[in-house]
Amino acid sequence: MKNRTVTITISALIMLFAIVVSGCKKSCDNGKNYQIKDNVIVFDEPQRIEGQTSMLGFAAEPIEKVRIGFIGVGMRGYDAVYRMTFIDGVEVVALCDLVQEKVEQVQKEILEAKGLPRAAEYIGEMAYQQLCERDDIDLVYICTNWQTHVPMAVYAMQHGKHVAVEVPAATTIEECWQLVDVSEQTHKHCMMLENCCYDFFEMTALNMAKQGLFGEVIHAEGAYIHNLEPYWHEYQNNWRLEFNQKYGGDVYATHGLGPICQVLDIHRGDRMEYLVSMTTPSYNGKKIAKEMMGTEEFANGDMTTTMIQTAKGKTILIEHDVYTYRPYNRLYQLTGTEGFANKYPIEGFTLMDKNLPEGFLAEGQHLNVHGFVPKDVRDKVMEEYLHPIAKEIEDKAKEVGGHGGMDFIMDYRLIYCLQNGLPLDEDVYDAAEWSCIGDLTRASIENHGMPVKMPDFTRGDWNKVDGYKHAMK
Ligand SMILES: NC(=O)c1ccc[n+]([C@@H]2O[C@H](COP(=O)([O-])OP(=O)(O)OC[C@H]3O[C@@H](n4cnc5c(N)ncnc54)[C@H](O)[C@@H]3O)[C@@H](O)[C@H]2O)c1
Repeated sequence: MKNRTVTITISALIMLFAIVVSGCKKSCDNGKNYQIKDNVIVFDEPQRIEGQTSMLGFAAEPIEKVRIGFIGVGMRGYDAVYRMTFIDGVEVVALCDLVQEKVEQVQKEILEAKGLPRAAEYIGEMAYQQLCERDDIDLVYICTNWQTHVPMAVYAMQHGKHVAVEVPAATTIEECWQLVDVSEQTHKHCMMLENCCYDFFEMTALNMAKQGLFGEVIHAEGAYIHNLEPYWHEYQNNWRLEFNQKYGGDVYATHGLGPICQVLDIHRGDRMEYLVSMTTPSYNGKKIAKEMMGTEEFANGDMTTTMIQTAKGKTILIEHDVYTYRPYNRLYQLTGTEGFANKYPIEGFTLMDKNLPEGFLAEGQHLNVHGFVPKDVRDKVMEEYLHPIAKEIEDKAKEVGGHGGMDFIMDYRLIYCLQNGLPLDEDVYDAAEWSCIGDLTRASIENHGMPVKMPDFTRGDWNKVDGYKHAMK
């Protein structure tokens, strides 16, 4: 009898073990925090903890003089400091980097050259913490390698600072939730610096979309297609190639996705619900990694293609290719029920006569809905519908520069909104939604293109704001 009980207990334990193992097979096997339910990959979504409140539409108290601490003054950070010195009411208080010479270069070539005071210096891997602990900084501006963004942003917010962080803001779903949660806990802004939302064509097309020139926008395409061969050697300690060597998926989706999400009112009336992703093997990436890192392994496929469907059924195509030999391309394409916009490789629109203001077209002129509008109409459209923000700051933006001026418009808007106590153009939910693509596409690719449910970082509030708008005083 005793023996039988022991046998039954052992069998029960084995069964229980089998159930537990099969139940969490995918999540446990590869250490991922997702499960597969009805052939859909579903990531865990943490509950909002007590005392934490939504940051949708959040506006902080106006800050007359915005005092900035920069972390990371490599290629991107150097330019950011430079641009900020052209904005009134900004003070560069502190600079932090791993490399003393880079900080010195900014002090000499930018601050001293413009007759501005030298900034405080912080050198070393953890020195950013001292910068964040200062009590005379309002905004921490982060331009470091991807994996350091979230620890730095979190530390800054927890020490009472607003945060602006380069793209992508985060590299995993857990990190995306961390940004959202800490921003909701501290009530500090966390803006991802998605500069492509501020390019002239994108801003014009956004303005046109909001005025109904394309009818209902039902499909959009975006990409980051940029052969990085000339640049791989430039990143500090080879961080970028090392990341791509380790991780598959669309690891740099935000440039293509950001401007499209603004047109589609993502978490302002619609939300991205599912994605599927596929990738090619690595050919050129592997070759570069062999040359630079002496490894035969390379996780990131040369060309990664992702389709996203929104709650309203709209579709988005996103591509990533930083390896092959092709012209630079961010796609930026909008397909509407009554019109079309296309930025790369040819800037153009397809429009209907009826959607243009009276007298816009020349006497007797009619548009062909099977082709692009003629050049004279396109030029007139670009002038007439240039976004009011871009119009206001166009000359200065082109003079200061930064990808043709869009980087300056981004910084100008960030400071304008902080100075006037307005919600920022890109909130923490945008940062999470646009950055989570890397992890989600990896999961889809690992499972032969299986659909992945996209997390709702607003936790149910995605339909509460009526359309995307820039805040104005
Ligand atoms: N929006 C855009 O158009 C655009 C363009 C290029 C790069 N970026 C983004 O900007 C960021 C930086 O890229 P980059 O091209 O300037 O790379 P980079 O390697 O030139 O610069 C990164 C800098 O961060 C510093 N750094 C790293 N760890 C640090 C730490 N713990 N404390 C302080 N400093 C630290 C490095 O020393 C280096 O100077 C990345 O997130 C990248 O994706 C955005």
